[in-house]
Amino acid sequence: MGINVWIPRVITPVEQPLPAAIEPENQMIASPIEDSQSSPDTWDNLKAEVQNCTLCGLCSTRTQTVFGAGNQHADWLVIGEAPGEQEDKQGLPFVGVAGQLLTEMLRAIGLSREQVFMANILKCRPPNNRDPHVDEIKHCKEYLQRQQQLIQPKIILAVGRIAAHALLETNEPLASLRGKVHSFNNTPVIVVYHPAYLLRSLPEKRKAWQDLQFAKHTVITMEQQSCVD
Ligand code: URA
Repeated sequence: MGINVWIPRVITPVEQPLPAAIEPENQMIASPIEDSQSSPDTWDNLKAEVQNCTLCGLCSTRTQTVFGAGNQHADWLVIGEAPGEQEDKQGLPFVGVAGQLLTEMLRAIGLSREQVFMANILKCRPPNNRDPHVDEIKHCKEYLQRQQQLIQPKIILAVGRIAAHALLETNEPLASLRGKVHSFNNTPVIVVYHPAYLLRSLPEKRKAWQDLQFAKHTVITMEQQSCVD
């Protein structure tokens, strides 16, 4: 498809050491949705709600919603920005050129698309791929929180600046968010460069590889800790 398979040649150790604990400043308060729902949430209910969503103006420009795809019990929840043209057409996340690179990057650390769950901050494509607006993020993030609660992933990969800022509620540059374990509703979050950025800036691929190694290391450390506890 015109994309080189992403195979790292050198495994470079992550520059920053693993922090002993998750950074407390980015912890978020649990979603208010839980309180407003009397019966337990289900995947089917959530999917139907997303499909029929009219909470923001993107409902009038989308071809279809992009709920997310992959393993509903995944250890890894991969969160990007918003559907692009291909995703809007196909109803699936990360199926365009950037998505293919992300798929190769995940494969390089031993993860297939079927093993992870991929979603976006927004379920609908913003016109001309413009940045998401604050109100769009606010509405759509509630769906994402419900997905997180249903999946119960061990780790979240925040792919790119927009996803990282929306999840962590910060405006810090991506470069300073890398290499740290953040948290979203008590799930560890690792920030990685967006594959669309990597396609434009190939030298940064080495950093993306370090970020993914760091994420994998974080999961392994958590698993080892839970064995000891
Ligand atoms: N495709 C997606 O689904 N999300 C992105 O962030 C980019 C491309």
